[in-house]
Amino acid sequence: MLVSLIIGALILLLVWDFRRKRCRVATFERSKISGPLSIPILGNGVQALTLKPENMIKRFGKYFNQYGNNFRIWILGESYMYTKDLKVFEAILSSSTLLKKAELYRYMRDFLNDGLLLSTGRKWISRRKAVTPAFHYKCLEYFVDIMDRNSRIMVEKLRTVADGKTSIDLFKYVSLEALDVTTETAMGVHVNAQNDPNCAYTKALKSVVYIESNRMVSVFQRFDWLFPLAAPLVYRRLQRDLRIMQDFTDKVIRERRAILDQSKVDGTYRPLSLGDEETGSKSKMALLDILLQASIENKPLSDKDIREEVNVFIFAGDDTTTSGVSHALRVISRHPKVQQCIYEELLSVLGPDPNSPVTQSLLLDLKYLECVIKETMRLYPPVPIVGRYIPEDLRVGDKTIPGDTSVLLMPYYVFRDPKYFPDPLVFRPERWLNGKEASLPTYAYIPFSSGPKNCIGKKFAYLQIKTLISKVIRHYELLPLGADPNPTYTFILSSSTGCNIGLRPRKTT
Ligand code: HEM
Repeated sequence: MLVSLIIGALILLLVWDFRRKRCRVATFERSKISGPLSIPILGNGVQALTLKPENMIKRFGKYFNQYGNNFRIWILGESYMYTKDLKVFEAILSSSTLLKKAELYRYMRDFLNDGLLLSTGRKWISRRKAVTPAFHYKCLEYFVDIMDRNSRIMVEKLRTVADGKTSIDLFKYVSLEALDVTTETAMGVHVNAQNDPNCAYTKALKSVVYIESNRMVSVFQRFDWLFPLAAPLVYRRLQRDLRIMQDFTDKVIRERRAILDQSKVDGTYRPLSLGDEETGSKSKMALLDILLQASIENKPLSDKDIREEVNVFIFAGDDTTTSGVSHALRVISRHPKVQQCIYEELLSVLGPDPNSPVTQSLLLDLKYLECVIKETMRLYPPVPIVGRYIPEDLRVGDKTIPGDTSVLLMPYYVFRDPKYFPDPLVFRPERWLNGKEASLPTYAYIPFSSGPKNCIGKKFAYLQIKTLISKVIRHYELLPLGADPNPTYTFILSSSTGCNIGLRPRKTT
């Protein structure tokens, strides 16, 4: 009796699974988009058990070699298509309707809620408009002061290990510096992560990002209903850390709103201004101040709205720039001629005093360094995967991508394709000299993505990366010490073996 019941249930399950996947399977087959062997119900769930942040990128590279520019994966009933086909990039990124992020990003929802990164439709349009003034050059001018001040702290922290022999994992230093910069530019408060890495907010933020990115590859933590049951301790830690962050941000918002309200009462209130054009004064406003004065459909943003955007700004700006700076410094340490060219440019544009502050216009003049950063982001794109959810069938050339599929664009492999970049694995910043970028096919180099949901923080990112790299190279000679990186996917590109270099103080003349 029991056996018959089990067999009956299994048959029902198989039929249900077959029916829910049938259309998508047929569309993939018609379009000749294949992938690793998938079994009923579990799909590729068994292979996914061995998928880890540290082997994901390489495994996907193998699948591209095996199955061509597109391959599909099934995780239970969810279908994923990975692609390095520029026609698919174009169809998705140029669309004004395909804005919903792929299923992969759902793990960030607890943290980012309806903030810019994950929102769509009218909400996204109005939020993007509200956030945009924070990236005006007047605001960026002020942000560069914050970047400069924090980069000086990092350079001092590095002094204790700059003995020419010790191998240093840059992520540890850069990520705290980047956190100090993003929190101060977002909220106007200095969380002092570099001097106090154990402060509750810093630890909570790092823990939330770590747990959420791990959920992506953990079968048992993947589903919201299963997560609290399968990993109750991790779940409780996540809830606690989210609360710590929320309390901190809400307190800052309340305090700054109170100051703003008081200024309206005592008549000192000045409406949103991006600095004084005549005197050339800086705006001195954090994102939070801009959002406190913004309104959507004539209504001010609520504390929750503002918290969401502040969290997005910190999440999107912290680890991405950390990845960019760490990979750049490591790769420069392995190319002495490149390092020498950068140093000469720094001397000529910024002068011989390594402590003299940088400004936005000086940073914009660092043209060779810009090529080095572009070339670094080609080989080590901080965001190696960009994902969208496709609700309906999407026709691209002679292929149809089935609706109800998450499409994962992999710039990481496009940027290493010899079709677009001859000798793709060779680090050659000169590729970018004299505007060579313009001769590339439109979607062949998009580290900041493209289209309506592209990165709003691109200019901020370049300024932050240039500030840090220039500060480190003005003070230290970079040495090729430590293990090679292993590409690791934690929403951004990191390395399970670290991003290692050695440092030797430069002799000042
Ligand atoms: C090297 C550094 C960075 C890289 C490579 C990068 C790359 C990206 C990419 C690929 C996206 C996704 C676009 C898409 O889904 O199509 C994105 C979105 C975004 N980035 Fe960046 N980013 C960087 C730094 C920053 C910084 C410093 C900030 C803010 C301070 C920032 C703020 C954002 C925001 C708010 C979004 C969401 C935009 C929207 O959905 O409308 N990013 N970024």
